[in-house]
Amino acid sequence: MTKGVSILGSTGSIGQSTLRVLARHRDRFHVVALTALDSDGLLGEQARESGAAMARVINRTGPEGLIQAATHPDAGIVVNAVVGAAGLKATLAALHAGKRVALANKETLVMAGQLVLCAAREGGGEIVPIDSEHSAVLQCVTGRADRPALPAVPALLRRITLTASGGPFRDWPAERVRDASVEEALNHPTWRMGRKISIDSATLANKALEVIEAHHLFGLGYDDLGVIVHPQSIIHAFVEFVDGSVLSQLGFPNMELPILYALTHPERLADPGVARFDPVQAGPLTFEPVRARDFPLLTLGVEAGRKGGTAAAAFNAANEIAVEAFLMGRIRFGRIAEIVEGTLERHEITDAVTLDSVIEADRRAREDARRLCC
Ligand SMILES: NC(=O)c1ccc[n+]([C@@H]2O[C@H](COP(=O)([O-])OP(=O)(O)OC[C@H]3O[C@@H](n4cnc5c(N)ncnc54)[C@H](OP(=O)(O)O)[C@@H]3O)[C@@H](O)[C@H]2O)c1
Repeated sequence: MTKGVSILGSTGSIGQSTLRVLARHRDRFHVVALTALDSDGLLGEQARESGAAMARVINRTGPEGLIQAATHPDAGIVVNAVVGAAGLKATLAALHAGKRVALANKETLVMAGQLVLCAAREGGGEIVPIDSEHSAVLQCVTGRADRPALPAVPALLRRITLTASGGPFRDWPAERVRDASVEEALNHPTWRMGRKISIDSATLANKALEVIEAHHLFGLGYDDLGVIVHPQSIIHAFVEFVDGSVLSQLGFPNMELPILYALTHPERLADPGVARFDPVQAGPLTFEPVRARDFPLLTLGVEAGRKGGTAAAAFNAANEIAVEAFLMGRIRFGRIAEIVEGTLERHEITDAVTLDSVIEADRRAREDARRLCC
């Protein structure tokens, strides 16, 4: 019996990597459903090649198409590789339906971490992260946390430090960063990714999203979650235990490994498609502190997470709008952080995290951010 897998956002960077991984393991997995926002040509090709029973173009079906793929009865695993807030309802639906959600769509946890964990508990589903940093942490704590399912109970953990490549502007002077072009911002030094996450990596908003994601997944408070710059992207996270021991997971920057692990956790599967690690080829590994003052979105995002309630949903929404405006050439790079900061200043936090309060916070923050973009 092979396991059925649905891929939400199969035409994107993570979606295509997932299909490559699955094609190497047809004896273990079969593809059930695929979705794209509007790339219907590529989606049709993917459906033919993989034998998927369902393919949905969301711009034609509306968000219902995502829910159909996420809850398809033949899928035991749902890979959520949609970008942005659009992934939230599908994650909740899959967890309520008892699926394993292999989660690349970190925005889901940032917006509504408590709701997502609650949906997993109520529906019997589980969340396994695809983000390389969170996959690294999971691999380090598996078999060591007090219980195997996420969120891990942190009694044995003292601190998690996520690594950041530093993005394309790691060593640029601050004045030059403010006027960086779209092309320069998309030119990530170590990872090839979709456009939105590439910009988030350049502003370090991506690391803020990841700290909030780690808070929800691993149960540590914000004081025990750190970020360090590691330009080679070989070590994906440091996990410090109460006895002072520190574990890490290493690998060349290639998302196929964390994707495979999210499909098989806690098992491991031999995969000839993933390059063998060679420390000599990896070269010297270096670490440096984050230039937090020059990349303010990291602190702004973590502070939103710390405030709780709907603050992180507002941070995420404002960031999505500002990044879109930057990619369309409507604002300069330095304005992204200013717009997010201005939106958060206006945001009245609702403490109760319900689907309605999160959606309302997302809507209000988008409106405010759009006004600030003008
Ligand atoms: N890329 C990476 O290496 C990486 C690593 C870690 C985490 N992540 C996370 O994984 C997620 C996906 O990233 P990505 O780089 O793969 O993005 P991407 O290349 O832009 O792909 C996004 C996918 O989602 C679809 N999509 C976009 N907007 C949608 C909407 N409103 N409703 C439904 N579907 C929508 C797109 O369809 P179309 O093709 O039709 O536009 C595409 O299939 C993000 O949350 C990102 O932060 C990515």
